[in-house]
Amino acid sequence: MASNKSGYSDVLIGLQYGDEGKAKIVDALAPNYDIVARFNGGVNAGHTIVTNRGTLALRQVPSAVEYPQCSLYIGSGCVVSPAELVKEIAAISAAGFDISARLKISPHATLVLPHHIILDRMHGGELGTTGNGIGPAYADRAFRLRDGLLTNIKIEELLVRPEEVVSIAKSHLDLVAKSSDELENLGKELIQGLQDSIEFLISFIAPSRDYLVEKLTAGAKVLFEGAQSYMLDVVHGDVPYVTSSHTGVSAAYVGGDAPPSFHRHAFGIVKLVMSRVGRGPFPSEFGGEVSNQYCTLEGGKTHTRDYEKKNFNPEDLMKSGEAFKVGQALRMFSGEYGTGSGRPRRIGMLDLAQLRAAVLANGINSLFLTKCDCLREFSMTPNKQIPIVTHYEADSKLVVKFYPAFDSVLEVSGGFEKLPVGLKEIISDIEEISAAQVMGVGVGPHRNQLIMKTSL
Ligand code: IMP
Repeated sequence: MASNKSGYSDVLIGLQYGDEGKAKIVDALAPNYDIVARFNGGVNAGHTIVTNRGTLALRQVPSAVEYPQCSLYIGSGCVVSPAELVKEIAAISAAGFDISARLKISPHATLVLPHHIILDRMHGGELGTTGNGIGPAYADRAFRLRDGLLTNIKIEELLVRPEEVVSIAKSHLDLVAKSSDELENLGKELIQGLQDSIEFLISFIAPSRDYLVEKLTAGAKVLFEGAQSYMLDVVHGDVPYVTSSHTGVSAAYVGGDAPPSFHRHAFGIVKLVMSRVGRGPFPSEFGGEVSNQYCTLEGGKTHTRDYEKKNFNPEDLMKSGEAFKVGQALRMFSGEYGTGSGRPRRIGMLDLAQLRAAVLANGINSLFLTKCDCLREFSMTPNKQIPIVTHYEADSKLVVKFYPAFDSVLEVSGGFEKLPVGLKEIISDIEEISAAQVMGVGVGPHRNQLIMKTSL
């Protein structure tokens, strides 16, 4: 049927367990869009971008901060941590990017309240959550009303009845029995933080729930930026070891405040050395359960970046060729520690069976591969080969294929053709097994370190 739409929306999501380098790709694609929008998650996301003025860690604000022509939108599917958002906007401003006129928040986005954070800190350890109150906030959104108290406070309430919001937040907090003095004090600080953020945040609330639809109808090109990633989806991921929002492509058209009739293209981001932070299944993990235990010990507070740097030499670990040590070395070489929490990420082989399923479920059209340069470290292993899972046997046993390692530095100037043979073979298998085309190949942390193989 003919439509009068003139703009369109594309969706970009991570296809693994998060931290695939989505922000870098969003940042590279942003010049093609008028608006970059978030549709899920909150401060649990950690998106790092390398700008000309240094590294910026973004958590709630969409990644395109560096492009003045690009507006930024936080959709109704997001949960907003008020004091953290104020701090993030200040950090972005200190880095030289003024987003005050460019950032809009859906009036229907849900506020993360102090008691959500307290509850997450008391009960989230079992799952290995980020402790930011995200799960309790989404649960309360669905709860709607408890004992006469609203449990879903939309951000627009800050505009309409700010004092009541603070009083509801206090009442919820009082009802939670805190397990320590530390949490008791944290609760008080969080209430103060909420109070102090209100005036500043109300200037960012979008004028209406139809803000994005109106922009799209008027011709805007929108890129939806997923947070977390498909394997952490609250329903389709490895439940219960998942986040509490929907993370797939379709979720952009629920939490992003635009109808799917504007959808054009879906991008999936794939990290060639996989990682997972927190608990849960990770079939291709180097060192399996030993690595899981090591990385998640005491909620990930033990084996930090500094600890590993002080105690291990990554080259020696790599040369040993032992699975757990190889994973540890790759974590150290490529700085795989949580952006927000600093937790060591569990490291694994690229899993093409998992990728194939994620591409199929999300209708992914094009792939961007990240951290291809990290595969270079495999040239230090005794067999000088890169292991990749191609499929699972009937009994769930992983089938691993070995590709020739390379020790050359990957240069953007050489283009796709000059990439090492082993890497091109991997890319060809990725395309064949996943049935999606590779559009870009990331060869370093900066957005310029991206080799385009195809274009839209
Ligand atoms: P929550 O989202 O804080 O409730 O945490 C639930 C699970 O999702 C934990 O295993 C987290 O480590 C994981 N998680 C949440 N956000 C991210 C992210 O941005 N990257 C990777 N993992 C995440």
